[in-house]
Amino acid sequence: MSSPTSTPIAFRTAIVPAAGLGTRFLPTTKAVPKELLPVVDTPGIELVAAEAAEAGAQRLIIVTSPDKGAVADYFTPQPELERTLEERGKDALLEKVRRAPGLLSAETATQEQALGLGHAVGCAEPNLTDADDAVAVLLPDDLVLPTGVLRRMAEVRARHGGSVLCAFDVPREQISAYGVFDVTDTDDEDVKQVRGMVEKPAPEQAPSTFAAAGRYLLDRAVFDALRRIEPGAGGELQLTDAVALLISEGHPVHVVVHRGGRHDLGNPGGFLKAAVDFALKDPEYGPDLRSWLVERIAENDGVS
Ligand code: G1P
Repeated sequence: MSSPTSTPIAFRTAIVPAAGLGTRFLPTTKAVPKELLPVVDTPGIELVAAEAAEAGAQRLIIVTSPDKGAVADYFTPQPELERTLEERGKDALLEKVRRAPGLLSAETATQEQALGLGHAVGCAEPNLTDADDAVAVLLPDDLVLPTGVLRRMAEVRARHGGSVLCAFDVPREQISAYGVFDVTDTDDEDVKQVRGMVEKPAPEQAPSTFAAAGRYLLDRAVFDALRRIEPGAGGELQLTDAVALLISEGHPVHVVVHRGGRHDLGNPGGFLKAAVDFALKDPEYGPDLRSWLVERIAENDGVS
């Protein structure tokens, strides 16, 4: 393991669970996987893959269901399309088309049945190599901004060992949508030691307001724990319960509290906010969108 002073490369493999039915995006998800819906012009899963690559991942294991082949296709080079764009001198588009396949080496693992996030992560185990002491798990519904938290998490693993997750401090009335941490302080204000973790507790039972935010740096021991958990919240095999089991057995678990922003791409309301946020920053679409929105909102306020 690297010393705390160097930039540690704690993982080479990132797992992205993408086998869900996408029910909140029906009817679109009858034919288009939700992970491919564009945030401006780029699918959410590419943003997450880029984040993993930026943090040092070389391999991406996408856990998909048998009918979601389009997600893997997205990471496959398309020589004919590239040739056409090249011939037409569309260099900027060519760069965009090549980006996803060039980020890291992508492969798939199949989850035959939607048995929960813990089960989905477990489906990636046969793809691991002996070199994978730890893996990153990134939930493609969650955009954690600005990027960089995985590197912070790798530093914390180098210092404390074990597994490291990302936490957001959320309002208590929203807490039951998340995995929630029971924490104690460390000498670093933004790093907490985790004493327990519970999936989707009622607000009054939540041990804190620190919620799991879709970024996990998990010691390989998690795969053994995943084989030993029972169905939990929602009748599903929960990643939270595997982490809780590890903690109960003395495995060190910490969280990095991320004070930045976050978008939830998992529902149309959150997705729209992300799209508008990204579009406002886009040099091509931003200025026009901004003035249109200002006008549109003023019009709306006028009629209300
Ligand atoms: C999942 C996890 C939960 C985590 C959340 C973050 O829940 O089970 O622990 O807090 O992602 O987005 P889901 O949103 O899939 O219900």
